[in-house]
Amino acid sequence: MTNILAKGSFASKLRMMNPSVHPQEVAAMEEAVAEISELKREKNVVILSHYYMGPELQVTVQEGGIADFVGDSLGLSVAAKTADAAHIIFCGVKFMAETAKILNPGKQVWLPSFEAGCSLAESISGADVRALKARYPGVPVVAYINTYAETKAEADICCTSRNAMDIARSFGGDKLIFLPDVFMGRNLQTRIKAETGKDLILWDGKCEVHEQFTPQRINGLKLVHPKAQVLVHWEVPDDAVAEALTGAGGVVGSTSDIIRFVGESANREFILGSECDLGATLRGMYPEKQFIVPCIKCPHMKQITLQRTLDTLRAIGTDKQEAYRISMEEELRLRALKPIERMLEFA
Ligand code: 13P
Ligand code: SF4
Repeated sequence: MTNILAKGSFASKLRMMNPSVHPQEVAAMEEAVAEISELKREKNVVILSHYYMGPELQVTVQEGGIADFVGDSLGLSVAAKTADAAHIIFCGVKFMAETAKILNPGKQVWLPSFEAGCSLAESISGADVRALKARYPGVPVVAYINTYAETKAEADICCTSRNAMDIARSFGGDKLIFLPDVFMGRNLQTRIKAETGKDLILWDGKCEVHEQFTPQRINGLKLVHPKAQVLVHWEVPDDAVAEALTGAGGVVGSTSDIIRFVGESANREFILGSECDLGATLRGMYPEKQFIVPCIKCPHMKQITLQRTLDTLRAIGTDKQEAYRISMEEELRLRALKPIERMLEFA
């Protein structure tokens, strides 16, 4: 009986998030969800899922799906730190799964595909940060969470899109190194300079999804939907952010800021300037509102599928499991832990 109810609610939540999903696809997904749920119980596994996952990976256990927690990168870090199952499967990208391992080393952390990288994380290395520190001695380094452990290990503090402003504000002095996202850096710079006079020293990393939201693209969508408010992530180019906030207005912020803004706005129509599947999240949360979503998918996030999540679960405890394991030298983990823990004091 419980299973029948759970299956039904998975399908209805999925259709809310993606109304064009084909019935045959839903049936195949329901089968995978049933097997995943069984294996999770058997092997004591929790699944943490980012808002950029396909909708089938965002339906929660309470809604008949597989995700124990769905969130942005900050929410997922906190959930990883406090997870109390033996295993964590991370439905997100590699830097997120690494952060989970750094924060909760007693758990076994698994990633369904090691192809799930990130153009920002790959734009910078630990050696690059050491070179920056030698060039600007004494200037504090803030590393975006979208970096690998060896980069974090060289930073004074990490930040996510949700707490970046508070963290940048908290430092004295007239300079700060912010890396690696140049657009997010410029968006922060505009606000920090006006508030504190502080200059940010930036790296040239870019998110290959958010950099595609140009002023021309935003402007074209606003012309067709003049009443829509525009929702843009911090990683969107600064000139496009300025375009987004004129007219009907909107918000620049983190994924959670975007979700909260929609909930608090009296507007009915929104243009999304962020990853395509955040559109599915918003449709699931606010079915009475309308979202115009230029569907740009993160090729890294989309490496994680329901099938690969099932493959990972089947592999745990067998000789195939090593293909999915997140592991790290203890010395590196401890160095990367410090700036993350400092960040969590702001969370
Ligand atoms: P948040 O989840 O912090 O909003 O980050 C967005 C992102 O691009 C993750 O890769
Ligand atoms: Fe990286 Fe951008 Fe993909 Fe996020 S959306 S994982 S920042 S490439």
